[in-house]
Amino acid sequence: MAATRLSARLLKVRPVVDIRPRNFSKELRHGFVGMVGNTPLIRFNKLSEQTGCDITAKAEHLNPGGSVKDRAALYLIKEAEEKGLIKPGGTVIEGTAGNTGIGLAHICLAKGYKCVIFMPDTQSQEKIEVLQTLGAEVHAVPAVPFDDQMNYNHQARRYAESTENAIWTNQFDNISNRRAHFETTGPEIWQQTEGRVDAVTFSTGTGGTIAGVGSYLKSKNPNIKVVLADPEGSVLYNYFKYGELKRSEGSSITEGIGQGRVTSNLQGAPIDNAVFVSDKEAVEMTFFLLHEEGFFVGASSGLNVAAAVKVAELLGPGHVITTCLCDTGQKYFRRLFSRSWMESKGLYVFTRHSNNEREVAANYVRELDLNRS
Ligand SMILES: Cc1ncc(COP(=O)(O)O)c(C=O)c1O
Repeated sequence: MAATRLSARLLKVRPVVDIRPRNFSKELRHGFVGMVGNTPLIRFNKLSEQTGCDITAKAEHLNPGGSVKDRAALYLIKEAEEKGLIKPGGTVIEGTAGNTGIGLAHICLAKGYKCVIFMPDTQSQEKIEVLQTLGAEVHAVPAVPFDDQMNYNHQARRYAESTENAIWTNQFDNISNRRAHFETTGPEIWQQTEGRVDAVTFSTGTGGTIAGVGSYLKSKNPNIKVVLADPEGSVLYNYFKYGELKRSEGSSITEGIGQGRVTSNLQGAPIDNAVFVSDKEAVEMTFFLLHEEGFFVGASSGLNVAAAVKVAELLGPGHVITTCLCDTGQKYFRRLFSRSWMESKGLYVFTRHSNNEREVAANYVRELDLNRS
């Protein structure tokens, strides 16, 4: 009671408080939305020494929803608001492999929207659990190709069409996705490398990252090389290398990347070259980043860094190569970081390093396996 009386008295004597957002520090971030982007640029010292190039990556796993997709999620909602497509209390609906959904779900909470996510049932259980914890309604649907009307994207579109005050954010073909990277990630890379970046390489899901970053950097210096990194089972390597929409052999354990078509975000992207990265190489690099560099990230990050090393080999020493760490490893305990699951895929052998120090890290993987699978 005393405290209540005291605050009431204080309120009476205090002047009216100005509640407009105040930028009393450049470092101040305003809410969840203000946390998206402006990620650090990391230089991997050992890989840089080995290649003679600066191998660098944007720490996109440090975005507030834990992935590079927070940037796209923010722009997808922001532009829908600006165009008046969604009103307060509305519903945001998306088809997503998970990370865009997680970004959207966070932003929906911060802005007071409902969130409904359709995702292929091949994605990690952890992503579903995170989405549900964030209050999203999750529909895990059978993974079928895009030309099948039961594909998760078409299901999301139909659901939005039948819902009042709802938007289908359509990350694959809504180019506000690549605009996010043109307006934020690209300029950040330019500034953080002080304009010295020679090449960027990114694996591709929607194509938003590579198209947006690539276009921005080419506008600053057309000599910067933009290289697409592609996993097993995707068509994009063959498309950008040989002009054929032909799948490469195998199927990948990586999530969120690889594509069967040229999305609207990818159309017209200034891509100079493509490199193929096998799951073996992506896994080896993911565990190198864990054991040797201390970064706990997902397999698309490993794939990106492996691609950066390949690009360094193509360009020769003395170049600055930039990629990104896409998301944290915490979403993959039951797969990438599960011994039994990785053994079932024939990939466990590539998670290990031979000397004793590395055995310590391999034990870590084994322990996770015992606890989680
Ligand atoms: C883990 C992960 N890495 C990379 C990407 C690819 O990014 P983009 O959609 O901008 O091509 C995604 C996209 O969902 C992702 O989830």
